[in-house]
Amino acid sequence: MPDPERQIDLDLVRATENAAMAAWKWFGKGDKNIADGAASDAMRGMFQLIHCKALVRIGEGRKDDAPGIFTDEKLGTWVEGSIPLAVAVDPIDGTTLTAKGLPGAVSVLAVAACDDPNDDPAELFPVIPSYYMEKIAYGPKVAEGPGKIRMDAPIDENLDIIAFKLKKRVRDLVAVLLDRPRHQHMIDAIRKAGCGIRLISDGDVAAAIAPSLPNSGVDLYIGIGGSPEAVIASAAIKCLGGEHLSRMWPRDDAERESLVKEHGCTEADFSKIWTVNEMARGDHIIFVATGISDSPMLRGIRYDQQHCITESILMRSRFRTVRRIEAFHNIDSKTIRLASTGEEMRL
Ligand code: FBP
Repeated sequence: MPDPERQIDLDLVRATENAAMAAWKWFGKGDKNIADGAASDAMRGMFQLIHCKALVRIGEGRKDDAPGIFTDEKLGTWVEGSIPLAVAVDPIDGTTLTAKGLPGAVSVLAVAACDDPNDDPAELFPVIPSYYMEKIAYGPKVAEGPGKIRMDAPIDENLDIIAFKLKKRVRDLVAVLLDRPRHQHMIDAIRKAGCGIRLISDGDVAAAIAPSLPNSGVDLYIGIGGSPEAVIASAAIKCLGGEHLSRMWPRDDAERESLVKEHGCTEADFSKIWTVNEMARGDHIIFVATGISDSPMLRGIRYDQQHCITESILMRSRFRTVRRIEAFHNIDSKTIRLASTGEEMRL
């Protein structure tokens, strides 16, 4: 019987390619919302051509007053017999990076399917109600065997474990963190232990995935970032055999109170540490990403005289195959379908 995952995986790449190329038109032009809207329109447009019944579990909140692909939105043609999917998506991770023309922006999409196509895949990606999560992500060599990284361990203990497993000295390790005042105590502790730090201004999906990729130059991602980004990065890291631990991090007492009142969160929920297997459940996870600008994961978009050149990554959890796809889109013939108008936009 044909494997339905194999029938749609390249179409999912087309979806992030189109989103990245649409975003590129606004690269460095100063308006993150226009870029995000363009990427979302192009990704939705591609989904209008994909035979699947996809429900967005992790997307933009409708209350956020930002463009995007929204949580609970339906994507795909929904034709009879097509594969049901749960979706975790960010048409641009790094909207500010895109607006400012900076490195690190990517278009990302993860889908999850059930073993039995009659089952509902919705629960395969959990919806985390807090705005932020504490996160720590590392690659397969660090994840395997005894000597586990612990979220609450002193940072130097975790760095010793990572150095031991990677057969490096702590002073040769590189950790990546979002450059935020809330991370200053971590930055001080990591530097005190002798480890190098790469500070990024935005875009922690690519940053969290990087330690799981060979030769990324990054050994650890740590810090507090968006909850949707934690789910999306976990899907990729699961496919790569790494680990991503995350825990809800309410910004203040008001958020904590509203998480209790509106979402029924308990102390157990606040202290729960999520692993990749809980964030991206089951054996049928597909993750795709296309670079908008250069990151440790992907090269960004380039143009030559005749082509727009995209680099994408495609991974599946089932067989852990990782594909890198360099695509040459001919600027005379390539068009991008826009969901809002049905128009085929030229590059
Ligand atoms: P956007 O692309 O939605 O702007 O998100 C960028 C990002 O840097 C994420 O990668 C990260 O998880 C989050 O914002 C961090 O949030 P904050 O900027 O509030 O620290």
